[in-house]
Amino acid sequence: GDVAVLVPAAGMGVRLGPGGPKALRLLGGQPLLVHAVRRVAAAAGVGCVVVAAPPAEVDAVRALLAGVAPATVVAGGDTRQASVAAALAAVPANFEIILVHDAARALTPPEQVAQVAEAVRAGHDAVIPVLPVVDTIKEVAASGAVVGTVDRSVLRAVQTPQGFRREVLAAAHAAAVDEHTDDAGMVEKLGVTVYCVPGDEAAMKITRPVDLVIAEALLARTLR
Ligand code: CTP
Ligand code: MG
Repeated sequence: GDVAVLVPAAGMGVRLGPGGPKALRLLGGQPLLVHAVRRVAAAAGVGCVVVAAPPAEVDAVRALLAGVAPATVVAGGDTRQASVAAALAAVPANFEIILVHDAARALTPPEQVAQVAEAVRAGHDAVIPVLPVVDTIKEVAASGAVVGTVDRSVLRAVQTPQGFRREVLAAAHAAAVDEHTDDAGMVEKLGVTVYCVPGDEAAMKITRPVDLVIAEALLARTLR
């Protein structure tokens, strides 16, 4: 495989509530990170997985992944962006397609990973999986007064993995001055066109306690 996948997993999971780093929290009895890495490693074309772990958990994460898939584990940083940069620095030079995937999107199907990589291979510099926005979205002033209703038809909710030609991702990280939650946003600032492919509801991000409840139900459905 010519595809390397970076898995930032160093976050604390503050919005999920007490219970330790989010990537190590359990879903169906296994850490979110184990679910995520197993699915990523199973995707067509993937030949390298680099995990950015909480700095205090690097050895524990190595042990955790030993029986799951071959993965390099590095210490993450204070921000997601710093964790991605640390993981990127550990990718061998021969990988030309780099995907960046949140450990928090633990149930992302291997097919979504493969489709993003395929779109990069087909010639797109940067690729993101997206879904339509289902809620009505309003712009609201600090006072609480509605300013207006946004045209939902042009909006998309963005998932991971996000895929890049390696030099595009490296240039975006080298150029970044402020903090971003999303690698494609950094690439957009370079003036590079980012291309969308269809996402999957199973690639939902586990952020709040309710998301863990939904993910447990999704996992039970796929095991049935
Ligand atoms: N992440 C990381 N390094 C950080 C912060 C986040 O590697 N310093 C990772 C998380 O582990 C997660 C992904 O980036 O897999 C998306 O971040 P998010 O969902 O915000 O996770 P947390 O930062 O852990 O959650 P919270 O913001 O609620 O604390
Ligand atoms: Mg966070």
